[in-house]
Amino acid sequence: MPKINFGGTIERVITRKEFPLKKARQVLKNETIAIIGYGVQGQAQSLNLKDNGFNVIVGQRKGKSWGKAKKDGWAPAKNLFSIKKACQKGTIICYTLSDAGQKKIWGKIKKYLTKGKTLSFAHGFSIVYQDQTEVIPPEDIDVIMAAPKGPGILVREKGVGASYAIYQDVTGKAKQKALALCMGINSTCIYETTFKKEVYGDLTGERGVLVGAMAGLMEAQYNELRKRGHTPSEAFNETVEEATRNLIPLIDKNGMEWMFANCSTTAQRGALDWRHEFRKAVEPVFKRLYDSVESGHETKIVLKANSSPNYRSKLAKELKELGDSEMWKAGKAVRQLRYL
Ligand SMILES: NC(=O)c1ccc[n+]([C@@H]2O[C@H](COP(=O)([O-])OP(=O)(O)OC[C@H]3O[C@@H](n4cnc5c(N)ncnc54)[C@H](OP(=O)(O)O)[C@@H]3O)[C@@H](O)[C@H]2O)c1
Repeated sequence: MPKINFGGTIERVITRKEFPLKKARQVLKNETIAIIGYGVQGQAQSLNLKDNGFNVIVGQRKGKSWGKAKKDGWAPAKNLFSIKKACQKGTIICYTLSDAGQKKIWGKIKKYLTKGKTLSFAHGFSIVYQDQTEVIPPEDIDVIMAAPKGPGILVREKGVGASYAIYQDVTGKAKQKALALCMGINSTCIYETTFKKEVYGDLTGERGVLVGAMAGLMEAQYNELRKRGHTPSEAFNETVEEATRNLIPLIDKNGMEWMFANCSTTAQRGALDWRHEFRKAVEPVFKRLYDSVESGHETKIVLKANSSPNYRSKLAKELKELGDSEMWKAGKAVRQLRYL
């Protein structure tokens, strides 16, 4: 397994070179992979595994996602089953329900996790916060994680990096199975982690820079520019459009120091100085955030919100308010101008 130097820290990363699909197929040749839940991850992972020649079935309750699975070619009673039936038939149970759904139906499926089977997660959530989720696997099965580092749509379209972890290795083959699953879902490379590190990192990241902090930072700058008399289009362009359209793709391609080196000297000096101001301002917020993740407080909030019967309508209202705010309406107008 290659050891890669990440800025002074040596980590092990597995690529398709060390673990080609052929090897993954060999490892899982006698397994029936049951993908439980046909949400964004379940859909992408099951289709990739099927296209890659693995023996896959889907377990999904009747309703919208069941219809989506049929549309994608899964055939009832052949490779599309109720959740219970798929858990009975599968030898590797990939528990890809929403995290709240995993808690809700655990009591109904755990009896199918018999000796010799493997339980696989796409996230450390249910296991790490088992004091709240009550997802406690039997001791005589392998428990692994194959967690893509991106949304299902990209897992399906082009494959993304993934991390793997082992929680229980009863057979001595847990690692091989986790790596084979990661490759079967078209992961570009695989990072080694633990259930805890994965879920703490993921919950912090999505609340932080990936979505929450990014949205909050954008709102703060936009509001200040508007207060100081800038037009909505100017405030939006200086806050969002230039960042997402122009700069982030360049940072993605070349790194941050390149970005600093390739903006005007005016921008360069100011950005280099203000970077420290912003870092200092938000460091205490990130500390508070990580503490809240680690203590399980974030999990409590998520489980309570997601299991509320009016979750979807409350969410729709919240998102409508965001979409109807001046800033994001200005965004719609700016985006339309791209195509004139
Ligand atoms: N989304 C990501 O970017 C991402 C990335 C990596 C890992 N993951 C992890 O992958 C897992 C799946 O996430 P996801 O984003 O694919 O979730 P999702 O789209 O919300 O999937 C929901 C699935 O769970 C089912 N479900 C929910 N509650 C249920 C219940 N009470 N009983 C039976 N079925 C229920 C849904 O069925 P219905 O449609 O019938 O409600 C649907 O099949 C999670 O552990 C998540 O953390 C997600």
